[in-house]
Amino acid sequence: MRTPVMAANWKMHKTIPDTIGFIDTFITLVRDIPQDREIVIAPPFTALETVCRAFLGRKNLHVAAQNMHYEEKGAFTGEISPVMLSDLGVSMVILGHSERRHVFGESNELISRKVVSAISHDIKPIFCIGETLEQREAGDTVKVLESQLSEGLSQVSESDMENVIVAYEPVWAIGTGKTATPDQAQDAHDSVRAWISEHFNSGIAEQIRILYGGSVKPENVNELMALPDVDGALVGGAALDPHSFAAIAGCEI
Ligand code: PGA
Repeated sequence: MRTPVMAANWKMHKTIPDTIGFIDTFITLVRDIPQDREIVIAPPFTALETVCRAFLGRKNLHVAAQNMHYEEKGAFTGEISPVMLSDLGVSMVILGHSERRHVFGESNELISRKVVSAISHDIKPIFCIGETLEQREAGDTVKVLESQLSEGLSQVSESDMENVIVAYEPVWAIGTGKTATPDQAQDAHDSVRAWISEHFNSGIAEQIRILYGGSVKPENVNELMALPDVDGALVGGAALDPHSFAAIAGCEI
């Protein structure tokens, strides 16, 4: 009942020629993938237009930005607004990625403003949460996820929640080759869904897509997607090659 989302986060990789090369191959590879899933690519800002043009008119292919400012315009040097993203045809945005939180110091409060702004501009946020290794080892995983959820989604109304996609990405699994075990992933997803049920309602909790991210690759995607509360994947390193991401996007569902 929940449409799976298979999303690529390219981070700061690929020039425009690299993007064109990827897309040419990728589009052919995903032509026969069942339409029962949404496939998303989040390229860097400079390649958004290229991917938007290539995906135009293809119903199950979507383009996401990797970040966004919450204001529509203003004196915010170096920032990109939701209006600018909509202009290009971008329909989703990754917000609160662990690299934004930990490398660039984004707070829950800032991320919360961005989430609200994205929704009000018809851009679906892929709202990322996840614990560090230290927090996991201290037994604080659920507490950390709950505080990121409650602060990041504090301004989102019940009716707007259906436009939110949550991505659970344990920080220790991102770019490390270490994937959460199926039990660890399922437990975390289950606690996220339980929190949403408690703070919004059970209908929304049943409907909301929760993606897993952190060293997803063709070899482990089927096992992760088989988990009852995993509704898709957010993929970094393994999404840089069109064959590898097509294999992930076309996984058994
Ligand atoms: P990874 O990155 O697949 O390279 O671990 C995932 C992410 O950062 O979203």
